Amino acid sequence: MAHWTTASIPSQRGRLAYITGANSGVGFHAALELARAGATVILACRDRAKAEAARARILAAAPGRIDAAQIEIADLNLASLDSVRSAAQHFLGSGRSLDLLINNAGVMALPQRRVTPDGFELQLGTNHFGHFALTGLLVPALLAAPAARIVTVSSIAHRSGSIDFANLNWEHGYKPWPAYRRTKLANLLFAFELERRLESSQARAISIAVHPGVSNTNLFSAGPGQSRGLVAKIIPLFIALTAQSEAQGALPTLYAATSPDAQGGHFYGPDGFQEMRGYPVEVRARPQAYDESSAARLWQVSEEATGVRYDFPTQRS
Ligand SMILES: NC(=O)c1ccc[n+]([C@@H]2O[C@H](COP(=O)([O-])OP(=O)(O)OC[C@H]3O[C@@H](n4cnc5c(N)ncnc54)[C@H](OP(=O)(O)O)[C@@H]3O)[C@@H](O)[C@H]2O)c1
Repeated sequence: MAHWTTASIPSQRGRLAYITGANSGVGFHAALELARAGATVILACRDRAKAEAARARILAAAPGRIDAAQIEIADLNLASLDSVRSAAQHFLGSGRSLDLLINNAGVMALPQRRVTPDGFELQLGTNHFGHFALTGLLVPALLAAPAARIVTVSSIAHRSGSIDFANLNWEHGYKPWPAYRRTKLANLLFAFELERRLESSQARAISIAVHPGVSNTNLFSAGPGQSRGLVAKIIPLFIALTAQSEAQGALPTLYAATSPDAQGGHFYGPDGFQEMRGYPVEVRARPQAYDESSAARLWQVSEEATGVRYDFPTQRS
């Protein structure tokens, strides 16, 4: 069977996509290809200069094919609930429906424990709580679209992730990698639980989970690259041996975002060895990601922590 590539992307004309962390890596390439296929894309980024630069790179990458008006910028710092609320308000204020939300931004394995202004451990606050709040606040715009998709970017790192509800934010015994793995397991618990809730309210929107395998992005230099010692030395070697390009890493996201075959509640990643590289296929998460009682508990904790309660009025197709 032929591989699924960017050539398989159907026309995205008329669709509006909101992508977190779209100024680099997987999010950037997802934005570029969606725009190339005709979508209007909102680059939701915490650094406006980086977002402007990404916008210029997108326009330069497909001269004449992408209209400048197709690339918008939104200010969004997922590590701040104030920023998430104001970004969501800003979007909702435009009165538009939203066809595609890509929960992509992330930070990984910060050497020291840091906390957000809301008191969350920074990786959990950014990767999970920020996206949980953003998605919940954007629900009215997503439900207003004819067939919205919410794509959440997890990782193979979820496989050894665990959720300790008694020490969710690592007040005790912070460890950089386990903290990251927890967030990527949380991404999956969230994406699957969101699908169950959308389905039970007969919503027209679906929630899909993806992972990019191992991709040579800034993620490694921004997080573990700051550490001293062995980890900092091993990372470049690991990347050289295993990583695929950023563009290839964006394929599962693009598949989930655009393929008519992608389904709600499913998980897509690369087809190669250990799912580290390759072309998008359906993959299975570890059993803990499908644990409905953990998912329900995380949902409740996330609603309490963020103050964002999801409202799904029953929709009929
Ligand atoms: N690369 C891999 O091998 C790999 C493997 C598995 C999963 N993933 C997942 O893929 C996703 C994308 O990562 P990537 O590999 O493409 O890395 P990346 O190039 O570093 O992209 C991460 C993006 O997230 C943004 N971001 C970080 N903190 C943010 C915040 N508080 N608010 C808003 N945006 C924030 C970054 O913005 P700045 O540029 O301002 O920092 C950047 O745009 C992440 O969810 C990551 O966990 C990646």
